[in-house]
Amino acid sequence: MEKIKYTARIKRYNPDENKSYWQDFEVEVEDTLTVLELLMHIKDKIDPTLTFRAFCRSAICGSCAMIINNRAALACKVQAKEKIKNGVIKIEPLKTLKPIRDLVVDQEEAFDKFKQIKPYLVPDPKVVPDNTKVESLVLPEEFAKYDKQTDCILCMACYGQCNALEGDEKYLGPFQLTKAFRFVMDKRDGLEIEERINLVEKSGIWDCVQCQMCLAACPKGIKPAEDILELRRIAKDIGEDKIGTRRAKFWFATVFETGQIDKFNLPEIALNDEEGEKIKENMEKEFRKRGIPEEEFGPKPFEKIEDYQKFIKKFEKEL
Ligand code: SF4
Ligand code: SF4
Ligand code: FES
Repeated sequence: MEKIKYTARIKRYNPDENKSYWQDFEVEVEDTLTVLELLMHIKDKIDPTLTFRAFCRSAICGSCAMIINNRAALACKVQAKEKIKNGVIKIEPLKTLKPIRDLVVDQEEAFDKFKQIKPYLVPDPKVVPDNTKVESLVLPEEFAKYDKQTDCILCMACYGQCNALEGDEKYLGPFQLTKAFRFVMDKRDGLEIEERINLVEKSGIWDCVQCQMCLAACPKGIKPAEDILELRRIAKDIGEDKIGTRRAKFWFATVFETGQIDKFNLPEIALNDEEGEKIKENMEKEFRKRGIPEEEFGPKPFEKIEDYQKFIKKFEKEL
């Protein structure tokens, strides 16, 4: 075994001072270490106060997710040697969760959102026998529809690097939506598909920005972004009066009429509830405070909007 020298640059968080800071640790260690073993080495030999979560060391328990060189991953699954760039490996906590100490993050908020989607099978009495001696059969081709999604270990790597969450902390999150997909596809589930979809519509399937970061982050090869697209298709098939379809129609109509997105009226139209009205009210207050005249709250058509509309119509015909 060969020894190599490099710098482990770790983002730490001190809750007593509410302060985040980077700290460099110079190490000379075997070239076979995983990132988790590197952290254990630093804790054992250099700084016992370094704090991180880990348990199984086998990519099973999901405790050691963190950001390694700007990419969410399981520390016990990644070889440190492969991540050294210019003599440095950069390690930081998952980005969209609040740090508790160093690399340990608070998972409560993400689990609360997880509970909202009812992440469990509600047995359908028509399919699931109430006699426990009788098997509830699922054919291989039926199981194949959600087999991959059952591999989720709730590590939160996908959640920790989700771009939608960086802009909107209310967004449900990738693993929550993948779990919802898993139960929508399970024929033994007794909740109506519409009920399952209703649980993930608001701050959910329509708010994903399809950045695909969750695909890159998942250590189990699950693709939450694709499951979300599938849930959108299912939602649309159930009925047109959905947040996403209302939003898409209004978005297209105002872009066609003015060349711009009507951000002032969009939340009210899409959400179609008190929350949408509240968002509009708050925006109105803010605009008035800034002295913006009422006729400028919504967008005005661009000059020569007719040319743009002709282009859109031509494009539509070609589709
Ligand atoms: S694709 Fe959607 S769910 Fe996945 S990381 Fe991006 S915004 Fe989040
Ligand atoms: S979907 Fe993948 S990355 Fe996300 S929590 Fe599950 S196992 Fe972890
Ligand atoms: S320690 Fe269990 S997944 Fe890494």
